[in-house]
Amino acid sequence: MLRQLPTVEDDNLLTAAIPFADAGVYRIGEECALVQSVDFFTPIVDDPETWGRIAAANALSDVYAMGGRPLTALNLVGFPTCLDRQVLVDILRGGAEKCAEAGVAVVGGHTVEDDEPKFGLAVTGLVDPARMVSTRGARPGDQLVLTKPLGTGILATALKGGIITEADMDEAIRGMERLNRAAAEAMLATGVNACTDITGFGLLGHALELAGASGVLVEIDSGALPVYPRVRELAAMGLVPAGSHNNRKYYLPRVIDGQKLAAETLDILADPQTSGGLLIAVPADRCDALRSKLRDTGCGDFLIGRITKAQAGHLQVV
Ligand code: CO
Repeated sequence: MLRQLPTVEDDNLLTAAIPFADAGVYRIGEECALVQSVDFFTPIVDDPETWGRIAAANALSDVYAMGGRPLTALNLVGFPTCLDRQVLVDILRGGAEKCAEAGVAVVGGHTVEDDEPKFGLAVTGLVDPARMVSTRGARPGDQLVLTKPLGTGILATALKGGIITEADMDEAIRGMERLNRAAAEAMLATGVNACTDITGFGLLGHALELAGASGVLVEIDSGALPVYPRVRELAAMGLVPAGSHNNRKYYLPRVIDGQKLAAETLDILADPQTSGGLLIAVPADRCDALRSKLRDTGCGDFLIGRITKAQAGHLQVV
């Protein structure tokens, strides 16, 4: 049996009571708190520099999701001795390029020998605790806005299987490389109730974590789910990543009538995302303002559902 993880008791840890917070937030002053997050993973594309950019955008995303401003980052690298060192240089260059775009200083890092390459970053940022956004705070009546399409897990699986090339998933690659900074700025300028970013647990899992933390029901419109090109076609061929099955196993019990969901809806809902968009719960009267700010900066402004009261901690697809 698994033993419980140790809990931290510290009044300055502002995320202590927020389950599945995207980052840890620790108060260091009246109007100032540290936002810290770490993420690293194996390659999802072949080109090392592209992978570096995606990994950096992905790692920075958790800070943006909480309304924070990332300041510094540390590289975390696992690298096989059999691979050309130039590959490592290219990965780090991609990561550094993305951090520079974000105005984040890469202040160091650590590399270990590993059987397969792994790359990511530990990121530190700042947030005013009064302006912190989290999975907690969504209210009945809020609209749900997603800022990037879905399906990167399905595309990465097809790429690994040799069914598609990197050129075939160009739009998704550009999406994964895109920082969630502009989306976070739009969210802060609008004033929203809750936010999280969509990564490994898929829209299904992250929406349910938001539902649980906020004590609300998340209602998703199946017809409104945005996907990158070719995702539906590839999912129909059975190119569904292992993580998708884990997500279903873990999260479907909290989906109302989950066993009745269409296979293609579930494939997209449960698809683990890399560097996915922000999922934002915004008061209905500010939804148009948020969406127009998102559009103005080239972000997606997909209206995919709403928050209701019934069956707190659950998700329903309509
Ligand atoms: Co996150």
